[in-house]
Amino acid sequence: MAELEIRNLHVKIEDKQILKGLDLDVEKGRVHALMGPNGSGKSTLANVIMGHPAYEVTEGTITFKGEDITEAAPEDRSQAGLFMAFQYPVAIPGVSVSKYLRMIINAQREARGEDQIKIKDFARVAQGAMELANIPKDFSSRYLNDGFSGGEKKRMELLQLALLRPEIAVLDETDSGLDIDALRTVADGVNKFAGPDMGVLIITHYQRILRMVKPDKVSIMFEGRIVKDGGPELVGILEEKGYGWIREEVGAPA
Ligand SMILES: Nc1ncnc2c1ncn2[C@@H]1O[C@H](COP(=O)(O)OP(=O)(O)O)[C@@H](O)[C@H]1O
Ligand SMILES: [Mg+2]
Repeated sequence: MAELEIRNLHVKIEDKQILKGLDLDVEKGRVHALMGPNGSGKSTLANVIMGHPAYEVTEGTITFKGEDITEAAPEDRSQAGLFMAFQYPVAIPGVSVSKYLRMIINAQREARGEDQIKIKDFARVAQGAMELANIPKDFSSRYLNDGFSGGEKKRMELLQLALLRPEIAVLDETDSGLDIDALRTVADGVNKFAGPDMGVLIITHYQRILRMVKPDKVSIMFEGRIVKDGGPELVGILEEKGYGWIREEVGAPA
């Protein structure tokens, strides 16, 4: 059984049907790439997996580790071990990276009924995570998201990953503005963190990042559904042929 199972998912936003019966399995220990043309609903899916309140699930289920989480609150999902990059995308005035990291560790500990982390333990844990995520020391005294470059925002996400150790991480990398440094950061992080204890769903329109991260599994999304599942060979086919052949294959108008 896959840790994350999505069945027949139908999702609406503002009376517009975006997901139209989507099925997807994401497993621990695998890097799973979700690709598809712009507007196919990839970011909608990512948001719905994390329980974004703007989207309405009209049919279908999302199951995580055997539990139906279709209606669960976002914080319950992350406590259960689901992670999405930038669950808290805002710049928080006056909160340093280091303080923010302590906040997220303590939120996780509180939900587990544990005491706040001791300052000394935090220093050790944070240092370990920063080394793992390949982040320079002075980063921790910066203010959260304040003037962060694309690459620095990505480092921040990796730091969160290194600290929280989710079982399934959803990374929506559709930002076409990502420079090579940011892409490299994400790719290194995925290669480092994905393993027997962590599965990654990496969502992307572009193939670029999939030259640096080799997915175990590839699913192609089109008009609110998964229309094709395969292995890494699909990345090459898309690179060569674009998305046009998918359109033809599913019989949709161009
Ligand atoms: N907040 C929203 N309000 C209205 N329509 C939306 C909203 N978010 C997404 N959509 C629409 O849903 C469709 C899928 O968008 P999205 O999930 O962002 O696709 P992708 O990430 O694959 O490019 C698009 O047609 C988009 O215009
Ligand atoms: Mg998107």
